[in-house]
Amino acid sequence: MGKEASIQPPQQFDTRGFRNALGRFASGVTVVTACYKGQTHGMTANAFVSVSLVPPLVLVSLDNRSNMHRILPETGQYGISVLAEDQEVLSNHFAGRTVEGLHLRFIERLGLPLLEGAVAYFVVRVVDAHLAGDHTLYIGEVLHFESRDERPLLFHSGKYQQVRTDRAKPTPWPQDEFSLFSIGNIDPPIT
Ligand SMILES: Cc1cc2nc3c(=O)[nH]c(=O)nc-3n(C[C@H](O)[C@H](O)[C@H](O)COP(=O)(O)O)c2cc1C
Repeated sequence: MGKEASIQPPQQFDTRGFRNALGRFASGVTVVTACYKGQTHGMTANAFVSVSLVPPLVLVSLDNRSNMHRILPETGQYGISVLAEDQEVLSNHFAGRTVEGLHLRFIERLGLPLLEGAVAYFVVRVVDAHLAGDHTLYIGEVLHFESRDERPLLFHSGKYQQVRTDRAKPTPWPQDEFSLFSIGNIDPPIT
């Protein structure tokens, strides 16, 4: 093959499309909290993941430009408040869209501030931090948790959503042979 033939146009990564595709994954909304030099800090994060049951581990993925990323290596622990469906204002507030005059109410567990009215709480000790591209994964061992049976705030396709209780009828899974054959042949055949 000649040299010219191997030259490929630079592949443009579709960042906007990638973000949109990621946004199709519905999540809850949390606020990560930490206490540093006597001040309470909070940051909205939906990249919160359960990692392990034994030992109990969770992680949160934080932008390397965020204040919380600067603080966590100092504090070595953080709190997670899983927001309730009526706490959208708190999500906005801790995502940089500061709401002036908002009366913030905290509770305290193991010395960490958590947001009053959330549906679940976790207090964790950072046991590992992995730099992953422009974010860092903060893995934490859960020292304390609690939850209450209330509806959480959801985030999907860049918008806040609520849990629907009237569940839509599920689309029946294809039963006929032709459909199953089609599904089984998505990959090109090996020749
Ligand atoms: C619903 C929602 C979810 C978010 N999830 C994350 C996340 O998981 N990780 C992250 O680094 N930033 C996330 N952000 C953005 C941060 O909350 C935002 O950049 C914040 O201002 C960072 O805090 P700082 O300004 O104190 O550094 C999210 C924002 C919103 C509105």
